[in-house]
Amino acid sequence: MILEDRAVPIITFVRENKRLEVPDGDHVRYPALENDVPVYCGLWKYANCHGNGLCGTDRVAVSPSTNTNNLTFMERFWLRGDLKKNPNIRLACQVEVYGDVTVDTQCKS
Ligand code: FES
Repeated sequence: MILEDRAVPIITFVRENKRLEVPDGDHVRYPALENDVPVYCGLWKYANCHGNGLCGTDRVAVSPSTNTNNLTFMERFWLRGDLKKNPNIRLACQVEVYGDVTVDTQCKS
């Protein structure tokens, strides 16, 4: 089997000091959870919508935006207030990665 030789996106979780290679177009949520990177704060770790864009609790700051998809409808709904303060804020389950990005998680536990 011949594997295509090309670069894959790297997500750098700044606070956690972790760098992860992910498939092109992958969401931030799954690699974060698989590597113990907290995207949910407090009780939202247990009470969330499991990546369906319905709870708005998995907020992370992702940059540069040129390496991600555009804001989804659900992100525009949940983040309408936060985006005025930080235009890089996204929902980890909605943001797709198409190049190297840095991610700043928003909670400490
Ligand atoms: S997990 Fe609920 S909006 Fe992302």
